[in-house]
Amino acid sequence: MKVLFDRNIIAERVRKLGSELADVYRDKKPVVICVLNGAAVFFADLIRAMEIPLEVATIAASSYGDDTVSSGEVKITKDLDVDVKGRHLLIVEDIIDSGRTMKALTALLSERGAASVAVCAFLDKPSRRVNDFKADYVGYQVPDLFVVGYGLDCAGMYRNLPDLCVIGS
Ligand code: IMP
Ligand code: MG
Repeated sequence: MKVLFDRNIIAERVRKLGSELADVYRDKKPVVICVLNGAAVFFADLIRAMEIPLEVATIAASSYGDDTVSSGEVKITKDLDVDVKGRHLLIVEDIIDSGRTMKALTALLSERGAASVAVCAFLDKPSRRVNDFKADYVGYQVPDLFVVGYGLDCAGMYRNLPDLCVIGS
């Protein structure tokens, strides 16, 4: 498999993102939300690069529908166990593809009365977007390739690869 970003390059990028986020959230005691399962590896590195007071929480969502269905229903399969009312939320996601998952999740959490909702995605594939969703913080923009490793899977496999790789090459 071809390595797109190796572990050392990733570590450097994540440290930089973490310190940028620490500056933004320094006095906000954010709830940093890991979108399971894909973001788990990125999340673990990112929160340790944010040297400020914060809380963590997890959520899982699955998105249905394909590119021909513009609404694309998103279902919460594991909900948060914290009250987000009045809190500053930072959602940590592995990759934004169609944008359906993050569009739905940010709307849902805003409806619950969060003080602010922002998204930090490790990867962004803007060419695949079916809506106007934009992540607030992005590790890397990637072309329309299927990538695995550093938490990202293909049919449940390869999440434990330390480097980000392109499948089938
Ligand atoms: P969407 O933005 O709602 O289409 O969903 C994004 C989700 O699709 C991500 O959280 C991943 O689970 C999955 N996904 C999209 N592209 C890739 C990829 O290249 N590798 C692995 N998972 C991907
Ligand atoms: Mg995902």
